[in-house]
Amino acid sequence: MIHRSGKFFFVLIFAFLLVGCMSVPESKPAEPVSAETIAAGDVENGRALFMGNHHFESGGPPCMGCHNVGENGLLGGGAMGPDLTNVSTRRSQAEILEILSNAGPSLSPVMLPIYADFPLTAEEQADLVVFLEASAGQPESDKELLVLGISLAGFVAAIGALGFIYRGRLRSVRRALVNKAQKELP
Ligand code: HEC
Repeated sequence: MIHRSGKFFFVLIFAFLLVGCMSVPESKPAEPVSAETIAAGDVENGRALFMGNHHFESGGPPCMGCHNVGENGLLGGGAMGPDLTNVSTRRSQAEILEILSNAGPSLSPVMLPIYADFPLTAEEQADLVVFLEASAGQPESDKELLVLGISLAGFVAAIGALGFIYRGRLRSVRRALVNKAQKELP
């Protein structure tokens, strides 16, 4: 079940990007974020927004669909975007805010279409920034082996199920051939 919903999510993201590429959206810059808003940023709310436990006001997709932070969830976040556990050590706060506000040179053409029509509020950006800063230094989640193991178990189970469904099939075909051959004997 887990990996089926993962596949669904993957298809959803792919569809998202496809629509994004086709419409070539114009960036709608989100509200500018003041230093006071950042000072009032709420790490726990940032985490909930990132993980999708709280929804963005504009209805944009949760970051976890494409990004990992630390040891999140059983299977971690998506692997389409880079792991963001230590993003605040490689990017300045201003750069991260440019990305989150859909404006400025740090915004990559990949992230642009995702939130073009779903600008984040100033509070949401502030909560996400302080959450990302708080997560720096955590061990990055390494769920690839777990996902691989689950996929492998699913594959073995599928082969087993097919074997069960078609059990006796070869034998019955062979029996029919043998019967036919015997009848044709003089
Ligand atoms: C549909 C997938 C997707 C979603 C959803 C998404 N991102 Fe991204 N993000 C990406 C990809 C892909 C990149 C890498 C872009 C590049 O390298 O050009 C990226 C890059 C970034 C970067 C720069 C990372 C770096 O190492 O420089 C930050 C910061 C970021 N995203 C934050 C977020 C946040 C916060 C959210 C939620 C509000 C979010 N992203 C939602 C796909 C996504």
